[in-house]
Formats: sequence, structure tokens, C-alpha cells
Amino acid sequence: MFEYRNDSLHAESVPLSAIAREFGTPCYVYSRAALAAALAQFQSACGGHDALVCYAMKANSNLAILNLFAGMGAGFDIVSGGELARVIASGGDPGKVIFSGVGKSAAEMRCALRSGILCFNVESSAELGRLAAIAADMGKRAPVSFRVNPDVDARTHPYISTGLKENKFGVEFDAALELYRAAARLPQIDVIGIDCHIGSSLMEYAPLLEALDKLLGLVDRLAADGIHLRHLDLGGGLGIRYRDESPPDVDAYLREVFRRVGERGLKLLFEPGRSLVGNAGLLLTRIEYLKPGAARNFAVVDAAMNDLIRPALYQAWHDIVEVEKGAAPRAVYDVVGPVCESADFLGKGRELAASEGDLLAVMSAGAYAMCMSSNYNSRPRAAEVMVDGEEAQLIRERERPESLFALEHLLR
Ligand code: LLP
Repeated sequence: MFEYRNDSLHAESVPLSAIAREFGTPCYVYSRAALAAALAQFQSACGGHDALVCYAMKANSNLAILNLFAGMGAGFDIVSGGELARVIASGGDPGKVIFSGVGKSAAEMRCALRSGILCFNVESSAELGRLAAIAADMGKRAPVSFRVNPDVDARTHPYISTGLKENKFGVEFDAALELYRAAARLPQIDVIGIDCHIGSSLMEYAPLLEALDKLLGLVDRLAADGIHLRHLDLGGGLGIRYRDESPPDVDAYLREVFRRVGERGLKLLFEPGRSLVGNAGLLLTRIEYLKPGAARNFAVVDAAMNDLIRPALYQAWHDIVEVEKGAAPRAVYDVVGPVCESADFLGKGRELAASEGDLLAVMSAGAYAMCMSSNYNSRPRAAEVMVDGEEAQLIRERERPESLFALEHLLR
């Protein structure tokens, strides 16, 4: 959905240069068609099976995107009360919400119980105790699944690997059986599922299947004990192409999942984040200065690490391209922002034909980009624009300097 027409990069049918003119830079631009296609592909890969795709909204939680996905029948994987508020504000169905995370507060639990969410993905015995007490206090039964840590290596970046014993996530595999038995005895707890999430940006689905097999073993042992689960949630994790990677094929992955689950009568839940939104967005930025040097050339742009922290945080690689293919001389640049940190770069050693004032597009910036932005250096957050065919609509206003300190107070 992002392609050159007459040497000018477009989002669907809108030239990015027109978006920069109308909304300014830096600016996140999303393609509605790309977002819808990614979700539709995941949903149709579930075929006729009993399944629910719960978008991991931490990847990009703009209300317009949630609203689009909710309208297509998606559920949501949330990790905070703030995310639940966003689901409700965007018209999503709380009955399709699953609540993950190791640190749910009492207030968040109350709010989720009141909203009637589908399931709490409980990550510890202590959390189970708190949830049971709150449910009792509210006169409710809490639907629960345990997030089991299957101790498999997702073979991804250590910061985004979550399924190993040493990670903080989930309950230990060997302790899960006991925990299920204990939970099944609690009247305020309705034990309905099992789940795992082993990591993000996976370039192969074999580790996910390994985790699935371990979970299925547990499901069968629980059934033998008379604890019959209704759903199995395999989490998210499928990677996308940032450069030249070959991400796993969704159809092949899901086909194998459903084959292994077989006739157990389990509903399947998935929590994809990045794979639904990552390649449906880009960050549009303008070159402020070109700064040639003896050791390196710098292209100083108006977007920075506060807008897109992935390169600084994970050494992540995002493609950076010229918006208008012109006759500017080619050179190799480090593309850097105005923030006062040496880690403030969007890409290093990039060959670009660029002049001052030119627009660049940082690609694959739909996931873990705007949502991880900050106001560091008192930089207002970027605008966000959704393109639908020939229409470009502002879906988040650029922050203003005053909004940065609107919640602050001078000393009395
Ligand atoms: N479910 C749970 C419980 C998760 O923690 C996550 C992501 C997902 C689902 C979605 O995973 P995905 O399908 O997007 O791989 N900021 C990092 C990624 C952190 C992922 C955190 N958890 C990045 O920029 O690469």
C-alpha cells in the first residue's frame, strides 16, 4: 500500500508529500487497506475453526485503528486499565477482551470485572489470590486462564523473548498443574483457559508449535483431572519483514496449530500485534540539515528517538527511503534526530539521494512506534494520519508545547 508513482512515494492513492504539506512532519501515516488486509488474512487463516483474533493493542493503540479492527470482529489483548479504556472508547467489545500482564492492580481488576471481559490471563499464584478476593468482594466470578511459561526459546532478541524460565512472565510450567487444581476449588474463579506468549518478532513458528505441544500436554492432564478448559491462547509473536527477513507464513502456521489441537473441542485465541500493524505504517520526516563530516555524514531529520525508539533500544533496522526520487547526489548518511543523545538515530550508514528540506519515510513503523514515543527533550508527539484510498484523515493531532506541561504546577 506504500509505493512509488512517478517517482513519488504514495500511501494508497495519496502522495506523502501532500500529507506532509497538510499535516506537517514528523507524522505517522497508516494505510487503512493494509491494516484491514492483515487482520482479514489472520482471520481467514482461522478458516471455519472456533477462533478469536485478539489484537495485541500495545503494538498500536490509536482509537481509529482499534475502531477499524473492532468493526471487523476482532477482540483485544490488553495489559492495562488504560488499554481497556481505549477499547471501550473505540467501540470495542469488552466481552472479547483478554487481560495479560504480570502486574495487574486491584483497580484494574475491578474495572475489568465490571466491564465483563472475556478472560484474565493470570501470571502468578499471588495474582490469583488477589483476583479471587476482589471477585468475591464484587459478587462476581472471574474468568481465568493461566499464562504458562513453556520454557521454550523463541530465538529472538533477548529484550522481547518472554517464554524462558528466566523471564518474568507466566507461571512455571511444572507448577501449573497444582495452580489449576487450586484455582478450580475457588468459587470466585471460573477456570476457562490456558495461554502462553513466548516472544515477539519470531522468524519461524517452530518454537510456537513446541510451546503448543507442551500446553496441549497440560490440557490433557487437566482433563483427566476433570478440569476441562474451553480455550487455548497461543499469544502473538509472528515477525514481519523489516529488511529482507522471511517471516513465517500465517496460513501454514495456523493450519499446523489446528491440526495439532485436533478434536479437543478447544476454542483457539491468538494475540498478534506487530504482524497486523507493523508494515501498515511509516514515519514521515523532513531533513533539517545535511552535515557532512570526515568520519560520517549526518542527515539531521525532524523525527527522533522520542518518536521511534526501536533503533536505539533494540538496534532495530527500519528501511529509510526518499519520498521523492530526485537528482540529488547519493551519499551514505547516518539519519539522526535533534535529541541530545548519541543513541538518537533512526538508521546508520544509509545510502540516500537527499537534499536539505527533502522528505524521508521510515518504513515498517506501524508497530511499537508511536505507542512507545515519549516527550523527551520536551518534544511534542507526532501527528498520526490514516489514508483510505484518496482520503487522508488526521487520527491524532500533533501535540502542542502547552499540552506537554498542562498537568504540571508551579510551586505555591
Ligand atoms: N501478547 C502478549 C502477552 C505480549 O506481551 C505481546 C507483545 C503480544 C501478545 C504481541 O506480540 P507481537 O505479535 O507483536 O509479536 N517493543 C518491542 C516488542 C515488544 C512485544 C511485547 N509483547 C518491539 O518494538 O519490537
